[in-house]
This record gives sequence, structure tokens and C-alpha cells, in this order.
Amino acid sequence: MTAPSFPTELKAALDARLQGLSRGELAARAALISRTYRDGGGSGAIRSEADALAYALARMPATYSTVTASLNALRAIRPDFAPQSLLDLGAGPGTAAWAAAEAFASLQIFTMIDTNVALRTLALDLARGNAQLNNLEYAKGDARAALAEAEPADLVTASYLIGELGERERQPLAEAMWDKTRDTLLVVEPGTPAGYARIIALREQLIVAGAHVAAPCPHDGRCPLSAPDWCHFSQRLPRSQAHKQVKGAELPFEDEKFSYVVLSRVPVAQHPARVLAQPVASKVEISAKLCTSNGLTTAKIPRRDKISYALARRWCWGDAVMKES
Ligand SMILES: C[S@@+](CC[C@H](N)C(=O)[O-])C[C@H]1O[C@@H](n2cnc3c(N)ncnc32)[C@H](O)[C@@H]1O
Repeated sequence: MTAPSFPTELKAALDARLQGLSRGELAARAALISRTYRDGGGSGAIRSEADALAYALARMPATYSTVTASLNALRAIRPDFAPQSLLDLGAGPGTAAWAAAEAFASLQIFTMIDTNVALRTLALDLARGNAQLNNLEYAKGDARAALAEAEPADLVTASYLIGELGERERQPLAEAMWDKTRDTLLVVEPGTPAGYARIIALREQLIVAGAHVAAPCPHDGRCPLSAPDWCHFSQRLPRSQAHKQVKGAELPFEDEKFSYVVLSRVPVAQHPARVLAQPVASKVEISAKLCTSNGLTTAKIPRRDKISYALARRWCWGDAVMKES
């Protein structure tokens, strides 16, 4: 997947908040937050304005890029979808709203919900740099409780939220999110086996409730992958100077793995195959692992089939492609 570029206004708004702050201290805060996440502690470590900024500098470019890639997958399958309202749960610094605003010029009403005061304050501050987000509502509170009061929205998003919930909280939250989804729900999680397992559980639960998968799966049936395999994608994104400093990283890019599902109330009209790994090109053929509406397959496109070969050369991991088994 081609990396979507991080919005210039968002980068500028984050950079402006760096004035007068020690990069070393921000890097130490980001490292502590990241360690807390790895140990299963969630975003409880984000308590102050500086913590929120450190988190946003370290994580927003990656989460923006995976949410954008997921929304682009939705747009490719449903080019006519033009949501007017967005409801973003576990909104944090507002990443999904920025990505959705960029993906859908039709969006006018933005509602966010989160428990974290520091991230909410930062989100509201950052949003001042985006005219589309000027009138957003940001409720402070637990997602499920706040959902009871929320208006339904055309597009509902939950990016990197459900992994922060206890196992028993996930099903009722999924049900409540779906209740507030007028048209489409997007859920994004880290591209780990555990993140994928959460996505698959939610997908199965909501298909039973009447949802149809718009992406990444070309079907509403059971996922054909079995352990140790899992469905995930990857976004390569460039790291800015501030991003490198706060992560204590040298490489000018990073690869962010993610799993996601887009569920719609309406069945989708087209079911292209999904490329599940970077295709391998040899002198004789291109070999691509595909999920199709008939199950998993490894497509072999011989070089002598010039037209198909030329098309397949452009396939990337995560793309929707017109090739059935
Ligand atoms: C990993 S952050 C992701 C933030 C944002 N969605 C993004 O993609 O950048 C998870 C967010 O979920 C929020 N959160 C966790 N549990 C929550 C709950 N029960 N209700 C509302 N928000 C919650 C946290 O405060 C945090 O902002």
C-alpha cells in the first residue's frame, strides 16, 4: 500500500507544540508510554499535556497512515459512500477524525469520545488547524456509557481502542457501536495475532447481527486463514526529524503492521480479491497470495500472459484486485 502523507497542518500543529520542550524528555515519556502499552497497560500512562504530545508525536503518523489505508480500501469498494457524520470512539488525539476528514470531504459532523483528558485537550487544540474539524464535539467518558447518549453516525470508527478493553467489555461495546452505525463501521487494531483475533471476533459477532464486510475480506464467510497465519497489512511511512527524535530512532521510515475490518449495513456490490502478502516476482511469473470470495489461493501469473502480468506487477500487499481463484 502506498503510504498516505501525514497532513501538513497536523504536522505543523504538532511541531508548534514542541517549542521550548526538551526533546530528550519527550523521548523518555514516549518510551515509558510505549513500554506501558507493551506490558498491557494501555493509555493510562498518558496523564499530562507533555505525555499526550509525546504519544501523538510517536504514534499519530503510524495510526493516521493505517486508518487512511483502511478508509481508502472502503472508498475503493464503495466509491459512492459519502458520509456526513463521523463518530470516533477512543479518539485519543483525534487521529481517525483527521484521516476521515481527508478521505471524505462530505463529512460535516464530527463526534469523538474518550476517557483520557490529556489526549482530549490535545485533540481539541490540534483540530483548530483543520477547518473541517472546527465544530467537533468531544465527549469525555467511557465509550460504552457515552455511546448511550450519542447520536448515530454514518461512519463510526474505533482505531486501536478494543485492545485497551477487557475481554468481557468487547462484545457489548461492539454491539453498542453497531447500534450507532447508520452505514459503516471501521475497526483498526495492531497487526499482531492478538489484534487480528480481536478483529475476527468482532467481525463474526456483527455479521450475525446483519453486517456485511466491505473490506478487507471479499466475503462474509469465515476467515480462511488459520494459525500461525493471520490477516494483517503493512504501511511504510516516512519519519520526520521530530518523529525520529521522540522515538529515539535512526531509520528514516517505519513499517506499521495493522489489521482492520470495515462493516457496512448494505451488502457491497463488488468482491475483488485481497492481496494478503507482498507478491513475489520471478523471471517466469508473479506469485500472489490472495483471499478471494472462494477462499485462499496463490495466483501465478506467467510472464507470457503479458497483459495480466503487467497488471499484476503493480499489485501490492493490501490491494483489492480483480482476480478470482
Ligand atoms: C491507543 S489509543 C488510540 C487513539 C486513537 N484512536 C488513535 O488511533 O490514535 C486508545 C485510546 O482509547 C481510549 N480508551 C481506552 N479505553 C476507553 C474506554 N473504555 N472508553 C473510551 N475511550 C477509551 C484511550 O484513552 C486512548 O485515547
